[in-house]
Order: sequence, then structure tokens, then C-alpha cells
Amino acid sequence: MSTTNLHILFFTIFAGLLLSTLCNMDQTQNDVALFIFGDALNDAGTNNYINTPAFFKGNFSPYGETFFHYPTGRITDGRLMADFIAEYAKLPLIPPYLQPKNDEFVGGANFASGGAGALPETYPGYVVDFKTQLKQFESLVKNLREKLGDEKAERIVSEGVYMVSIGVNDYVNTVLNNPALFQSVSMEDYVGMVVGNISTVLEGIYKVGARKFGLFTMLPFGCLPIVRLATGNGSCSTSATELTELHNEAFPATLTKLESRLQGFKYSLFDMYTSLTERIQYPSKYGFKDGKTACCGSGPYGGNYSCGGMRGEREYSLCSNPAEYVFFDSFHLSERTYHQFAQLIWNGSSPTTKPYNLEALFKHGNV
Ligand SMILES: *[C@@H]1O[C@H](CO)[C@@H](O)[C@H](O)[C@H]1NC(C)=O
Ligand SMILES: *[C@@H]1O[C@H](CO)[C@@H](O)[C@H](O)[C@H]1NC(C)=O
Ligand SMILES: *[C@@H]1O[C@H](CO)[C@@H](O)[C@H](O)[C@H]1NC(C)=O
Ligand SMILES: *[C@@H]1O[C@H](CO)[C@@H](O)[C@H](O)[C@H]1NC(C)=O
Repeated sequence: MSTTNLHILFFTIFAGLLLSTLCNMDQTQNDVALFIFGDALNDAGTNNYINTPAFFKGNFSPYGETFFHYPTGRITDGRLMADFIAEYAKLPLIPPYLQPKNDEFVGGANFASGGAGALPETYPGYVVDFKTQLKQFESLVKNLREKLGDEKAERIVSEGVYMVSIGVNDYVNTVLNNPALFQSVSMEDYVGMVVGNISTVLEGIYKVGARKFGLFTMLPFGCLPIVRLATGNGSCSTSATELTELHNEAFPATLTKLESRLQGFKYSLFDMYTSLTERIQYPSKYGFKDGKTACCGSGPYGGNYSCGGMRGEREYSLCSNPAEYVFFDSFHLSERTYHQFAQLIWNGSSPTTKPYNLEALFKHGNV
């Protein structure tokens, strides 16, 4: 490298440092924002602020006992994946959009609502469905434009990372409560509808200006303790497994289509299906004692959704150490499982996390 080139290099580095210092002096931080959408895997307390029964809530003990030491609305013992991702990205915990606040922008917003599905007919009236979450995001961005100006608001939106977990409730609700539906609608068509609606909302988020998405494959929900209880003999549900497999073919194919159709659309797809299946089958390999039974619940496999005693059935049992369990309650994962997943999402590599991981999406304005 010639001296001139070196001079140019050093000048570029210096100018870059100066520029970033100037940006940091700005009233809004230069950090990449985190926006969170979806269901209970991502809900940090949205459902505390809507009128819905305890079935959709986690705002009572023992939820939150491990990390927060009080119930926050997260339906697990501690933190969720998005909480760890915020930490790795050096952001504060991202609060629910519906949480009362002064109007200050705090590095992102969480729209996720436990029980939400991609289809509006999944638990209608009880949850903030995916389409409504998009509407809330649109009004947040409108507000940001008014307060910070178009340019700054657009930068926050386009550089931001969007974590989305949606679809499992559309399937679980049908398998548990309306399995007869599959006598009139084929599983292929149902999955096509769910994935089609996910795709529509992802495109809606893109249209607001979002470019970088953090997504998951469908978890093996046929092996949730509540579904094992329903099958009667403790095995995973075969119809659920079929739906999961169909989803996990259709969803990545849809992402490839979005990527080729929408300029600048980038995503990270974490293979939650494989990662959770491995922990269910070989819990001790990942530091767990039990991959089948819920830490908190009642009945076989802790499959009765009674954790906390607020959902009709008052009796339930609670394990002494949730970190030994893959599942915290009959529907939801433990903080330790979420922690392990968050690390794979953040800096895992292909085939577990691809084509990018979230660290790459956070670090580079344009990957
Ligand atoms: C979205 O779901 C509705 C049912 O709520 C269905 O009629 C529609 O076809 C789906 N949209 C797509 C794009 O698949
Ligand atoms: C458990 O029951 C399901 C039907 O609910 C059946 O298909 C499956 O073969 C059974 N598994 C075992 C191990 O008995
Ligand atoms: C599960 O809970 C229901 C109430 O929601 C109760 O009637 C039932 O006996 C419980 N079953 C088991 C196996 O604990
Ligand atoms: C991945 O990220 C986690 C969380 O920041 C960190 O603890 C771990 O060391 C990282 N692993 C690698 C290989 O960089």
C-alpha cells in the first residue's frame, strides 16, 4: 500500500470517527433500533394492557420469578429472546408499545401479543393480531416523523431490525380446538393461508421502510406439553408435525420470494424447529434435565395450562429450578431455552441461522 493510500485510509477512518461522534451528540442515539412483533414468544407485556382473560396473560406469579423477580407479563420464568437480543445490541429492554409512557423514543417498540396469530380469526377479540400490530407500527412511525423529522425517522426505520414470531397460534388453536376444520380445508391450504398472511404483513412492514428482519422456522409445537396431554399417550401429535413440516417448507420459500421481489429486503432465519427438537430429544446435551415436561403446570407432562392458578384450575405444581426444563409451562419455553436460542440468533451460523445472523444485520447499515 502506498503512503498516499495510507493517508487516504487514515483520513477516512478519522473522518468516520468524527462523523460518528457528531451523530452520537445528536439528541437521538445512533444505535440501531429493535422492533418486535408476534406472539407470546415475543410478548414483553402487551397483554397487560388489553382486556383479555388470564389464558393470554403472564402478569401473575410465578411468571417472571427467575430474572425480574416479579411478573412482567412475559409468559416465561424470566427473559425472552428479544430481551437478550436487546442486551447483545446494547439497547435497553424494549417496552411494549401499549405501555403508558412519556413520548420519548427508547430504541424500539414491542407490539407482540400472546395468543396472536397471522389470521384474524385466531382468538379474535382476545389478542392484538398481526395486522393490528402493523397498524400500531404505522402510527408509531407517523409519530416519529412528526417529532424527529422525516429524515431521522426514516433512518431509524430503515436501519432497524424487526424480530417477528408468528403462526404457531393459528396452528395450535386449530389442532386443539377445531381439528374438524381439516375435514373441509386441506392442511396445505391452511398453511398456505397462514404463510400468505404472514407474507402480507411482512411486506406491509417493509412498505413502512423496514429492511432487516429476524425470523424463525416453526417450532415443533406438536411436542408442547399441552399437545402431548391432548394426544392421550404422551407422544407428539402427528397432525401437528405434518403442519409444522408444511409450514417449514412454505415459509422459507416465501422469504426467498420476498427477497427477490422487494429491493433491500434482508432476513435472518433461525431454525427453531431443529434447535428445539434437539433439546426435547437430548435435553442433557444442552444442560437440561427434562425436555418433555413443563416446569409449571398440572397433570401428565405438566400439560394442563394451569401455571399460576389463575386460569380456572387453581392447583398446579412448580419445579424448583426452571433452568432444568426446556418448557416453563405447558405452552411456553423457559428463560434458559430462550437464552440459548438468542445466542444462536445473534451469532449462530448456517444452517442454524441463515443467510445472516442478527449481529450482522445490526452491525451493518447495509449488509
Ligand atoms: C389470509 O387469510 C384469509 C383468512 O383470514 C384468507 O382468506 C386469505 O386468502 C389469506 N391471504 C393470503 C394472501 O393468503
Ligand atoms: C399415541 O396415540 C396416537 C393417537 O392419538 C397414535 O397415533 C400413536 O401411535 C400412539 N403412540 C404410541 C407410542 O402409542
Ligand atoms: C386439567 O384442568 C381442567 C380444568 O381446566 C381439569 O378439569 C382437569 O381435571 C385437569 N386435568 C388434569 C389431568 O389435571
Ligand atoms: C455469541 O454471542 C454471545 C452473546 O453475546 C457470546 O456470549 C458468545 O461468546 C458469542 N459467540 C461467539 C462465537 O462469538
